[in-house]
Amino acid sequence: MIPESVKIIEDAAHCFEGTRDGRRPGQLGDAAIFSFYATKNVTCGEGGAVVTNDLALADALAQTVQHGMSASAARRFEGHTYRHWDIARLGTKANLPDLLAVLLEPQIAEIDLQLQIRERLCRRYEAALAGTPFKWPTIDADAVSARHLFPIHVPGGARDAVLNALGEAGIGATVNYRCVPALSLYRTAQAQLRFPISWHWGEGTLSLPLYPSLREDEQDEVIAALRRSIATTGLSGAEPAPIAF
Ligand SMILES: Cc1ncc(COP(=O)(O)O)c(C=O)c1O
Repeated sequence: MIPESVKIIEDAAHCFEGTRDGRRPGQLGDAAIFSFYATKNVTCGEGGAVVTNDLALADALAQTVQHGMSASAARRFEGHTYRHWDIARLGTKANLPDLLAVLLEPQIAEIDLQLQIRERLCRRYEAALAGTPFKWPTIDADAVSARHLFPIHVPGGARDAVLNALGEAGIGATVNYRCVPALSLYRTAQAQLRFPISWHWGEGTLSLPLYPSLREDEQDEVIAALRRSIATTGLSGAEPAPIAF
């Protein structure tokens, strides 16, 4: 039983479409946060949204994103007479401009179709890469993934070699989630030993191109380049790097 004082905030930054046991982000926690940053499935370049059933929280958030002001510039004129605004809480400037938000609606209307395309592309990757040294996350039977990324783990410390091989073939593979303890700002001498699992995934994973307009012949080129990289980087005989749990 979770105590009332504990609040659950879901980081659903790129999980607009996902479900677990039929429930969507925000239906389990006190609030869920979505990102509309440029790389996301639903995007207006920057910004995001919070969903919550807690009216007091919604009100506090609405104020927080507008310098803590009690009424936005437009709302000050509701009722046709000017109303003073106040600042009763510390805020910041983090509102989503209407001019950006208007880009979202047509994308949301298309989301189910786009997810089907992403799902099909992911299954093609999975079928083509079965039996290779690469590994990728599996999706629980009770879950629908937003299929935002198709990350693969490259064993034997060869992630960057494979990344370079793909780059030389003109393929824009990328690394989405570095291991935080490996970043210069946070790095310590013992980082790899202290955070072996984070290191394993963060330093061994790359993301393959995945977007609804990716054509199958383009995806086949990615797969062919990946297969070539297995031989050129000596991965065919590579032992999977050990994971310490
Ligand atoms: C899991 C996760 N949380 C949070 C964020 C941050 O989102 P934003 O760039 O809108 O701040 C990202 C962005 O990639 C993310 O992937």
